[in-house]
Amino acid sequence: NNKLEHKLKDDHLMVIAHRGASGYAPEHTMAAYELAKKQGADYIEIDLQMTKDGDLIAMHDDTVDRTTNGHGQVKALTLKKIKQLDAGSWFNKANPDQAKASYKGLKVPTLEEIIRHFGNSVNYYIEMKKPQEYGKMNQSLLDILKKHHLIGSGEKKGHVIIESFDADSLKSIHREFPEVETIQLGDASKMSLSTIKNYAVGVGPDVTTMNRAFIKRAHELGLVVHVWTVNDRETMEELKRWQVDAVFTNYDDQARAMIEAQ
Ligand code: G3P
Ligand code: CA
Repeated sequence: NNKLEHKLKDDHLMVIAHRGASGYAPEHTMAAYELAKKQGADYIEIDLQMTKDGDLIAMHDDTVDRTTNGHGQVKALTLKKIKQLDAGSWFNKANPDQAKASYKGLKVPTLEEIIRHFGNSVNYYIEMKKPQEYGKMNQSLLDILKKHHLIGSGEKKGHVIIESFDADSLKSIHREFPEVETIQLGDASKMSLSTIKNYAVGVGPDVTTMNRAFIKRAHELGLVVHVWTVNDRETMEELKRWQVDAVFTNYDDQARAMIEAQ
């Protein structure tokens, strides 16, 4: 199967740095992405939210409260305001054993800043968070990826993967750019694999909702399986035995060590 060919090459279990190397550095900061690259992650994962003025930023939550020293919904704040926030100090407080002075004062990056910084040196695994709520998120994302030659005819396959819980957004991306690889996120128990295979190359199930039979079924249909979020060695080893294609993890160095030890 074509879709599986380059993903299952050499039986390689891919490591996706979940929100960057977020077990060691403040999630969705340049420091977290830099570390993920250094640790050899196959992809850096970027969750997207959209500012009041329409910029795409790397942030998991739809408010800035948890991961910065600010307050409020991302969609109610301009990029200028968000750039004034400290996106690193919360991590030092929450993880004293991993704290670093250099994390203090880190900024929230935009998607474009990340792409400009890393260029072709990493692969990007991009999640559209709440695309329906933001309206123009799909188009903005595609415009940025096109502008930086990450998608479009002749571009390297697999350089960008787009993931979402929102099926409609994935379908519309698939219609416009059928060559872009998309992953449908969700609970394994609620996924219709035969429907998903019409618009996505694979599925991203919550690790707590899946089992070996699900993986087998997905593979039989030609879908890859990228599981989130896997932070313990035992589960990673089990998933490798079950021939999962990729894991999202906060500890990409540990996942890499496990894979190389086998
Ligand atoms: O994108 C896969 C996984 O990251 C989904 O969970 O909440 O960490 O974005 P979340
Ligand atoms: Ca995510």
